[in-house]
Amino acid sequence: MKQHELRLGDCLEHLRTMASGSVDAVVTDPPYGLRFMGKRWDYDVPSVEVWAECLRVLKPGGLVLDPFMGTGTTGVAALAEGFRFVGFEREAEYFETAKRRMEEP
Ligand SMILES: C[S@@+](CC[C@H](N)C(=O)[O-])C[C@H]1O[C@@H](n2cnc3c(N)ncnc32)[C@H](O)[C@@H]1O
Repeated sequence: MKQHELRLGDCLEHLRTMASGSVDAVVTDPPYGLRFMGKRWDYDVPSVEVWAECLRVLKPGGLVLDPFMGTGTTGVAALAEGFRFVGFEREAEYFETAKRRMEEP
């Protein structure tokens, strides 16, 4: 591919067209579900499916770090895709939710 590639449209649809293990890193500033400035795109957070696709396209065998883990959606997707995961979160309520989602069967 050339030095850069930009695609209009839904990221989940585009992710599905990409080969597994073809990406070195996913670095993003996603919607946070805060309704930032009343923007519709910030009414919700990305689904587990989106993060699972992000992890699928990454080169395998990695350790995923989410330093701002929140309730752990990235971690849930990482474990489901066979990655190891480290997460940091300072809000105890969010931390406990993340822990439950990843440690309870
Ligand atoms: C937090 S903003 C990113 C801002 C960016 N860091 C900047 O400097 O402009 C998130 C962006 O994701 C886009 N977005 C939300 N859901 C999307 C989806 N399913 N597929 C593609 N883009 C999406 C929104 O339109 C919004 O522009």
